[in-house]
Amino acid sequence: MEKKNIDWSNLGFGYIETEKRFVSNYKNGAWDEGALVSDSTIQISECAGVLQYAQTCFEGLKAYTTEDGHIVTFRPDLNASRMKDSCERLEMPVYPEDKFVEAVTKVVAANEAFVPPYGSGATLYLRPYMFGSSPVIGVKPAEEYQFRIFATPVGPYFKGGVKPLTIRVSDFDRAAPNGTGHIKAGLNYAMSLHAIVSAHKEGYDENMYLDPGTRKKVEETGGANFIFITKDNKVVTPKSSSILPSITRRSLMVVAKEYLGLEVEEREVYLDELKDFAECGLCGTAAVISPVGKVVDHGTEICFPSGMSDMGPVTKKLYDTLTGIQMGRIEAPKGWIHVIK
Ligand code: PLP
Ligand code: COI
Repeated sequence: MEKKNIDWSNLGFGYIETEKRFVSNYKNGAWDEGALVSDSTIQISECAGVLQYAQTCFEGLKAYTTEDGHIVTFRPDLNASRMKDSCERLEMPVYPEDKFVEAVTKVVAANEAFVPPYGSGATLYLRPYMFGSSPVIGVKPAEEYQFRIFATPVGPYFKGGVKPLTIRVSDFDRAAPNGTGHIKAGLNYAMSLHAIVSAHKEGYDENMYLDPGTRKKVEETGGANFIFITKDNKVVTPKSSSILPSITRRSLMVVAKEYLGLEVEEREVYLDELKDFAECGLCGTAAVISPVGKVVDHGTEICFPSGMSDMGPVTKKLYDTLTGIQMGRIEAPKGWIHVIK
């Protein structure tokens, strides 16, 4: 298979159109068989549910070329099951979980020429998504839906790769206490756009959102969960019913405990205690693990001892082990690696 002529090592996190995408339609109460198609555009009613009341959700996962030349994805079954949760909360029909994994497999295989080579630092990002496609004018769910998956080769989510980030405590909330923060609804991201644009204007890389109920506890950023390392090397991650259950974070907790022998804690994390942590990182499919060097809370700087030039030592071990598993250098726990070819 001849790879596309792309400067893999200099890719950012952007959209590049690839050859094939998967499309399946839901009509009269059932999903059709679905197929790979070449057309990257979509034609829908001007009154489609997604356009009027934002009835849409999505997922994100990556395909990797391993050290020994296989192409794999990481825990796609968990994306399928999280999408099921999103669909149920948004009154959308669930796309069958086994078919979801099959469709991921088909899209990666059909776009093999776009899967970045091992060692390039790039990966093939997959974006499964679903939206209400039939007309809706009264506030209610659509009757027809489309499920799609496209692929795009990507580099690091944050410019500068693994340089520690500076983030600010946001005055905006991304979710409501009993809202949709725990699912991957497009509306959560629409909510965060003003906050991210204003953070960037003020020179910050990202927002740290607080719990919308009390605004005293750390939740997550617009696109990643937090991990913190205590001065005695415990891995701590915020527990909240309004953050997205990150697959990367759940995997890292296993890696920390089972591979690195570290103690792990999923618990409420107060803004007040940030100053006591040794390291901080953002974790997610796009973010992988991106180190945070500094949090600014309304003019007060909280600087982690790991500093602004390198990843902290425990964060680095977590990063190396997780990416080692994803790229086939380290043996994975059973069921984590889905081999495409
Ligand atoms: N939190 C938010 C708000 C996200 O959008 C994402 C990305 O999917 C994550 C966390 C990380 O989740 P995952 O590790 O499953 O990609
Ligand atoms: C992902 O990590 O897959 C996401 O969906 C996050 C988004 C900010 C790109």
